[in-house]
Amino acid sequence: MADFKTAPADAPAGVKLMTWVDNRFPATKLFKEHMSEYYAPKNFNWFYIFGSLALLVLVIQIVTGIFLVMHYKPDAALAFASVEYIMRDVPWGWLIRYMHSTGASAFFVVVYLHMYRGLIYGSYRKPRELVWVFGCAIFLALMAEAFMGYLLPWGQMSYWGAQVIVNLFAAVPFVGPDLALLIRGDYVVGDATLNRFFSFHVIAVPLVLLGLVVAHIIALHEVGSNNPDGVEIKAKKDPKTGIPLDGIAFHPYYSVHDIFGVGLFLMVFCAIIFFGPELGGYFLEYNNFIPADPLKTPLHIAPVWYFTPYYSMLRATTDTMVNVLCVIVALAGVVSLLAVKGKARIAIAVGGIVAIALLKTFDAKFWGVVVMGGAVIILFVLPWLDNSPVKSIRYRPQWHKWLYGIFVVFFVVLGYLGIQPPSDLGTLVSQIGTLFYFGFFLLMPWWSTIGTFKQVPDRVNFTAH
Ligand code: HEM
Repeated sequence: MADFKTAPADAPAGVKLMTWVDNRFPATKLFKEHMSEYYAPKNFNWFYIFGSLALLVLVIQIVTGIFLVMHYKPDAALAFASVEYIMRDVPWGWLIRYMHSTGASAFFVVVYLHMYRGLIYGSYRKPRELVWVFGCAIFLALMAEAFMGYLLPWGQMSYWGAQVIVNLFAAVPFVGPDLALLIRGDYVVGDATLNRFFSFHVIAVPLVLLGLVVAHIIALHEVGSNNPDGVEIKAKKDPKTGIPLDGIAFHPYYSVHDIFGVGLFLMVFCAIIFFGPELGGYFLEYNNFIPADPLKTPLHIAPVWYFTPYYSMLRATTDTMVNVLCVIVALAGVVSLLAVKGKARIAIAVGGIVAIALLKTFDAKFWGVVVMGGAVIILFVLPWLDNSPVKSIRYRPQWHKWLYGIFVVFFVVLGYLGIQPPSDLGTLVSQIGTLFYFGFFLLMPWWSTIGTFKQVPDRVNFTAH
């Protein structure tokens, strides 16, 4: 009771109310810590809008999801018709549904750009490793959320897409078939699958996502934001106030700034919803307007665009690719053997032989699943792969910039090829893309140290505008 503050008797009613609340819940303290006294670098560029946009899309998905659940029926016999009912008969149902389906793709657009920003400015480096790791966990949860949501309309693509992906789990040695059965709840994708995916999609995964987003932002606010120069603004503080010299209060400066970005984003978002919600079959696939038919496999099954870079990597892992991987392991083993001496040599030789034996023991389909999963898992360890003396791309050698550029090109090409039916040329290009993707990360401890780095300034680069 001793710490209770009292507002002056003549204070406005709002001040009195806030004093009453603050005595019981740290509302003003939290607002100051995370908004008005959270000092963010003053040199943020447009790349820094995507965190706020991801938050906005998260809210859109949750709110529209709540309204969809009011009319949707998680039953294999009723699901497809209930979505049509939402589209045709429920007042504004079409808008809610299109906001949710467009929101799913928008989420990935925003999150991919948000991750790429982190990649090029080295935002995953010390002391922000956990911000990044929480982000990767968010990305995994987001993929699970999108995959399970896609089954719910019970269209042809929902059904066959789920069938293909769940069957992949059956390729896991020993436990695979039981694992696939556990996920499906039946021997084929069916009502039991729809029910469990519904339950995960509407409550379990969103709860995990929300928890992770809170952890992500708490971790970020503990260490402070990075910026396009990769300069730690906390290193130079005003001796009197203790405020970073290059920091500005998040509220009102960035809150107002972000509202402008939100406006731009909503213009594009609304344009898609009102003028092209299917976006040429990329956001809503045409085959999904046909009810699921377990007896009729569509000619070409492809996941939605945001999964296709990884799907391409899965398809790229053929028997030939496994042989190429064996050769790469052998070459890497020989190079390492030449570089080290003593007992380490035995360890490398044994490790290499075991790796090649494993590669040849299990079939290519299993390794495809490992490659696809590994492509996401490898992101978690990124903070410990980069040994570059500078964080931001701005101060790295010119050829590093090319490497990051080629990385994007391959990622987009892999995404494109994943949508197309398989072809010999497509498979070859995906194999090169997959090798580049993994080479980029696995060789990063080595290449990130090479070249002439520019001097990082003491203070951030900023010109008033
Ligand atoms: C629901 C998804 C996500 C939400 C709502 C979210 C939210 C945010 C917000 C609000 C910020 C601060 C503003 C900004 O720097 O843009 C931020 C920063 C950051 N996020 Fe996320 N994020 C999400 C997903 C991810 C993912 C998937 C990753 C990486 C794998 C990631 C990595 C980062 C990093 C490294 C920062 C610090 C950036 C810096 O200080 O330069 N985030 N996030």
